[in-house]
Amino acid sequence: MSKFVAIIGSPKLKKSSSSAIVHRISEILHTDIAQYRALDIINAPNKNVIENDILQADILLFVFPLYVDSLPGSLMEALVGLEKTLQNSTNSLPKVYAICNCGFYDAEQTAVALDIIQNYCNKTGLDWQYGIGIGCGGMIAEEPSNLKANGPLRNIFKALSELCADMLQGYNDKKENIFVRASIPRFLYHFGGNMGWNINAKKNNAKKMLRARPHEII
Ligand SMILES: Cc1cc2nc3c(=O)[nH]c(=O)nc-3n(C[C@H](O)[C@H](O)[C@H](O)COP(=O)(O)O)c2cc1C
Repeated sequence: MSKFVAIIGSPKLKKSSSSAIVHRISEILHTDIAQYRALDIINAPNKNVIENDILQADILLFVFPLYVDSLPGSLMEALVGLEKTLQNSTNSLPKVYAICNCGFYDAEQTAVALDIIQNYCNKTGLDWQYGIGIGCGGMIAEEPSNLKANGPLRNIFKALSELCADMLQGYNDKKENIFVRASIPRFLYHFGGNMGWNINAKKNNAKKMLRARPHEII
């Protein structure tokens, strides 16, 4: 049985789409996946234990949210910290898959972030396979139970299932990145998103701030 390790790039402790994705993958694979949050890797008192776990993995999964068209800073910092360890390793390095979810409707927004992970693999010797870019990512954390065969997230579930099959088959042929999003109309996603912002702003007494223009030239 292959050894799977996931590095979760979301700094969130609760309601993280990235964590929900790793949970669902572990259910599809019927196996536990060792999970490390990027923030915990940075702050770990004994990094050797985590680094050894990563070096001994057969499959390494990077699962993270899109932040400003790129990677969250904590994931970037963790990757920089691991760079030398990977480059100095004499073992064969794990195969890598990446899953980036974003708040925008269109999944293609994540293309550059996936390329960043691929470039990192090329530089460090990790064995890049392919990535999945996910649009409407916030819906996963809101309703992770929808991430099954027939819900509005069925395309995302299908892509994750195919990724699991690829990991289990152990093929060496590289695939192109895949971009998927929830099966709902764009206007409905925007409507739901706006409603969410309004409800949260009201709850936090910040309704006026929604229309703030801090960079407006007066
Ligand atoms: C600081 C910050 C920057 C973000 N930048 C983008 C972005 O550039 N494009 C986008 O589509 N979503 C962006 N988002 C939204 C997140 O990618 C989205 O909410 C995602 O579902 C969070 O995943 P998580 O629950 O795994 O953290 C940003 C969120 C934050 C907090």
